[in-house]
Amino acid sequence: VILVLFGPPGCGKGTQSSRLASEINGQVLSTGDLFRQRIAQSDPLAQKLRAILSAGELVSDELVIQMLLPEIHRVQAAEQHVILDGFPRTLVQAQSLDQAGNVSPNHVIVFDVPDDEIVDRITGRLVHPQSGRVYHQRFNPPKKPQIDDVTGQKLVQREDDQPQTVKRRIATYHQNTQPIINYYQEQNTIISQIDGTGPVNQVTDRLMQVIHSSR
Ligand code: AP5
Repeated sequence: VILVLFGPPGCGKGTQSSRLASEINGQVLSTGDLFRQRIAQSDPLAQKLRAILSAGELVSDELVIQMLLPEIHRVQAAEQHVILDGFPRTLVQAQSLDQAGNVSPNHVIVFDVPDDEIVDRITGRLVHPQSGRVYHQRFNPPKKPQIDDVTGQKLVQREDDQPQTVKRRIATYHQNTQPIINYYQEQNTIISQIDGTGPVNQVTDRLMQVIHSSR
């Protein structure tokens, strides 16, 4: 099964996708994480990606697809469910996935969170870069301040989590969303809308309800 977690930046896709993965024998493929891992290599492509991400702009559709498809195939070969986090972000990406054959999403889950709450969430976010684990200084704090619960390593703030960049990312999301939703409606893909506000556990419960009722 291929699930898409869809929603504005900071709506909780990363937080919820890792919980979902452990519930359903799935693997999360976050395009944002893929790019951040690639940036660590510090070659010309890494430099280009770093500039795009820190400006809050989108990576080209071609490059996204080129990097993501082998990852989807890898998870499918391991006979695990694929959980896409942050993909597709444009109509072209959604169409390209279908054209690639045997990798069309079965279920698209859309998280609704108002824009002003998103800014609060993103500016307090802390991440563990090695694993992609996500915390929030107030809403979802680690057991020890600034330290990852599992490895004891230091948590960091993402470079693109500056208020101005966040506003640009939110605007881009609103610009691209409707054509993607319309497209999946035309394809008769299951689409579920989830209220992404409230405590993290409550959102997880809503997500699990939607997943179980679609099976
Ligand atoms: P990406 O990494 O995908 O970022 P994003 O979509 O902007 O989403 P975020 O990671 O910011 O948020 P999230 O929804 O995962 O929320 P989280 O769980 O962390 O993309 C980064 C960049 O990469 C893009 O800007 C673009 O440049 C590029 N890119 C990626 N994919 C691309 C693509 N397909 N095409 C082109 N370019 C692409 O939660 C946020 C915070 O809120 C955390 O601190 C968390 O602890 C807290 N929180 C979570 N849930 C709750 C809750 N219920 N209540 C209170 N706080 C909560």
